[in-house]
Amino acid sequence: MTRTYVTTPIYYVNAEPHLGHAYTTIVGDAITRWSRLLGNDTKYVTGTDEHGLKIQQAADAAGLTPQQFTDEIAPKFAAAWERLNIANDDFIRTTEPRHKAAVAELLQRCYDAGDIELDTFAGKYCVACEEYYSDDELVILDGVEDCCPVHARPVQYFEEENYFFRLSRFQDRLLDWYAKHPTALRPEHRGNEALGLIRGGLRDFSVSRTSLEWGIPLPWDPKHVTYVWFDALTNYLAAVGFGSDDQDYRDWWPATHLIGKDIVRQHCVYWPAMLMSAGVEPPKRWAIGGWLLVGGEKMSKTSGNVVNPLDLIDDIGLDGFRYYVLAETPYGSDGDFTYEGLVGRYNSDLANNLGNLAARVATVVAKKCGGVGTAPSPDSPLAAAATTAYTDAAASWDDLQPSRALDATWGLIRATNAHLEQNEPWKAEPGPAVDAVMGDALEALRIVAILCSPAIPDTAQAVWERIGMSGQVADQRLPDAATWGGYEAGPTVTKGDPLFPRITL
Ligand code: MSP
Repeated sequence: MTRTYVTTPIYYVNAEPHLGHAYTTIVGDAITRWSRLLGNDTKYVTGTDEHGLKIQQAADAAGLTPQQFTDEIAPKFAAAWERLNIANDDFIRTTEPRHKAAVAELLQRCYDAGDIELDTFAGKYCVACEEYYSDDELVILDGVEDCCPVHARPVQYFEEENYFFRLSRFQDRLLDWYAKHPTALRPEHRGNEALGLIRGGLRDFSVSRTSLEWGIPLPWDPKHVTYVWFDALTNYLAAVGFGSDDQDYRDWWPATHLIGKDIVRQHCVYWPAMLMSAGVEPPKRWAIGGWLLVGGEKMSKTSGNVVNPLDLIDDIGLDGFRYYVLAETPYGSDGDFTYEGLVGRYNSDLANNLGNLAARVATVVAKKCGGVGTAPSPDSPLAAAATTAYTDAAASWDDLQPSRALDATWGLIRATNAHLEQNEPWKAEPGPAVDAVMGDALEALRIVAILCSPAIPDTAQAVWERIGMSGQVADQRLPDAATWGGYEAGPTVTKGDPLFPRITL
């Protein structure tokens, strides 16, 4: 059986979950659900990044110990993902013993390989990024020198004895590996940015701090705690038992990582080099997403433009929100979040297209077919539309592009609405011609329910049940389940409440 292991970044617990975090997590969830429809044994892991200076400072500001503080915030992420119907199998916290064991194991392997050495660090650090910057990377803002290019605020200078990871030794090995795995970085334009960083030359990076207590001690020199990025990246191995359960780790590794474009350097440069040093295979793929912007700026606690995803669900419904997040922006590009955009997409794709089709089919079947589902015709013109929808959706999910996959799926919805309009079964007398048209529409809805289930699981199940199918839509297996002709005459078709009532602004 094919095994697929999908991860999200683990989120800093200095802030509560916001729309930006929800975005990456929903994309990962949909990719996971598609993989399960294909019959792959799939593990989906998310979690929280709890060590480092940024968290220590946030805990100090809240008047709590870092452990108390992280214990308070981490469950809020877990609860938000439950509310967003995220099918993660695990939730890893970097304060857990299994994570600490994995970090110790990875550090020790890199140290034993001779790639971690003691040196003196003198330089500039952005606490918000938990990242070091060279002078040429820093910017002047409003006359203030040495500002972080991402967070637009001054960096800190510090000097101390640190252990360094010899990243500079890995340039050729990394370029070589990426040349042999040309589709590992998705989408390509984001991957090119990562390759540009490697080609531009690699500096060793510090992997330990002595001036900080909130972290994991180095196994061979416990005066030092582990640099938070070395610590955090290792979660991906820890969650599959690296350092504690060898078999589990071998079964699942390597992973597909979903990340934002802001953390490419750590994931696509540091991480594979750390793994190579430790004798572990690099990740399978990276899906690099853009940012959701609000008013042209990245949504973040620092910018003060945070949108709470849970508020949006109250307005637009869970699946309305999930659909918007997945369909609106091609993965890899930046998207501008607006409330008007959210409602506009909901009304056009969900209320007018899918919702309307489901309601219309149930109404006509009630009136013209006695409320009983009829069989599709084997040579229906919709059969070709269904094949195209499946083939294009499958290719797009495989390429980690949910917006394209949903557009392909909606192609079948549009074709079915057009088929009904052309045949106008609501005007015809009951009989074999109407039965055939309605059978075609029911069969198209059956396939649509399967294809849209990774994005809008609850709605997909509702459509499934309304057309009289039994069991769970998520238990269907592709490609067989998408083959034209699967709908059998006989089940009771029900109308139910509107799936997506129109929303006026
Ligand atoms: N803790 C690190 C990641 C460690 S992974 C080993 C971190 N955390 S974060 O909470 O600041 O952000 C993590 C990710 O959240 C980003 O890379 C991105 O995927 C997602 N997003 C956060 N804000 C976002 C937007 N405004 N828009 C889209 N995604 C954003 O970095």
